[in-house]
Amino acid sequence: MDTPASAAALPTDTRGRALHDLRISVTDRCNFRCVYCMPKSVFGAEWRFLDRKDLLSFEEIERVARAFVRCGVRKLRLTGGEPLVRRQLETLVERLARIDGVEDLSLTTNAALLTPARAEALKSAGLHRINVSLDSLRDEVFKRINDVQFPVAKVLAGIDAAAAAGLGPVKVNMVVKRGLNGDEVADVAEHFRGTGHIVRFIEFMDVGNTNGWRLDDVMGAREIAEAIGARFPIAPVQPNYRGEVAKRWRYVDGAGEVGIISSVTRPFCGGCTRARLSAEGKVYTCLFASAGTDFRAILREGISDEALTQRVAALWGRRDDRYSEIRTFETDKLASLGPKVEMSYIGG
Ligand code: GTP
Ligand code: 5AD
Ligand code: SF4
Ligand code: SF4
Repeated sequence: MDTPASAAALPTDTRGRALHDLRISVTDRCNFRCVYCMPKSVFGAEWRFLDRKDLLSFEEIERVARAFVRCGVRKLRLTGGEPLVRRQLETLVERLARIDGVEDLSLTTNAALLTPARAEALKSAGLHRINVSLDSLRDEVFKRINDVQFPVAKVLAGIDAAAAAGLGPVKVNMVVKRGLNGDEVADVAEHFRGTGHIVRFIEFMDVGNTNGWRLDDVMGAREIAEAIGARFPIAPVQPNYRGEVAKRWRYVDGAGEVGIISSVTRPFCGGCTRARLSAEGKVYTCLFASAGTDFRAILREGISDEALTQRVAALWGRRDDRYSEIRTFETDKLASLGPKVEMSYIGG
């Protein structure tokens, strides 16, 4: 039952895109309040997070993941909110690592809870690698962004812990927002050059409805590349695979590589093979979707594995999403798309 399906049986969407990645959000909670993701004015004491009983259990997540793997998924990523705030996450990692056909099992975290012991436990549970979000190396700026007074040094320690546990090379995600940390691009590049870690500079995106996004705040991929290149010459590198999110660049002197994620100025919907599962079991076929399909209900009604797989295939077969392309090239159509789900809910 769990053998990966043969290529002929795998679904493609209405634009011919295969299903290759599943991003699994394990909680909508986070111990940070990043100003561009969970602003305190919205995610304060009044905010209603999901109830525990409404979260998918690890067993349910595993069942859904197996159905996606039968439909072609080879890459699983755990996200949040902050995935490490979900209790016993290692148990879920163990379950997912055992699935035949999973070639890449990773986690995107803010590293606040990534102690050496936690990193080792995740590694022994079967996690392959880790991406860490870090938007500034200046304490004053970083604290202003995370809005919970969290210091840079602890995130750097988390990155070291991940690398020491064998979860590297670590990808370090920096969301670049003009006027906030845009002047730090070359400094962050310099800090991680030669360490084996890969910094990815991310254009600030209009995810959710509460992050006050304005096009003027976006520092585009070209400008980011110029800022790095002005200090250290860089040259483009071929993608690792079709549809890779980050465009890769290498330092000409051999000191490693960086990535630039340009969802705004150069959308990559054409090669988008990603589905998303929310913590409460809704499946979304785009980061910017306004509605998901409730898999928790069908799981709790007692659906068979075979029927679950058919649901996944049918959902993917109907998919037509390409939000970033529309936002960039067909702005007149944006209004008709409806309110988006929040980033902390869908996991990025
Ligand atoms: P790797 O597999 O390690 O390359 O990870 P990744 O870049 O796919 O995942 P990560 O969680 O590190 O996300 C990095 C950035 O890319 C975040 O800002 C995500 O929101 C963004 N991102 C990931 N997938 C998509 C996508 O399908 N569409 C858009 N617009 N952004 C995405
Ligand atoms: N634009 C771009 N990236 C974002 N992230 C969170 N909010 C945004 C945004 N508005 C990033 C986080 C994390 C990843 C999952 O998404 O920093 O690294
Ligand atoms: Fe939490 Fe990540 Fe959102 Fe920051 S960007 S609030 S760390 S989920
Ligand atoms: Fe995929 Fe939607 Fe992102 Fe485009 S905007 S790359 S369709 S998730």
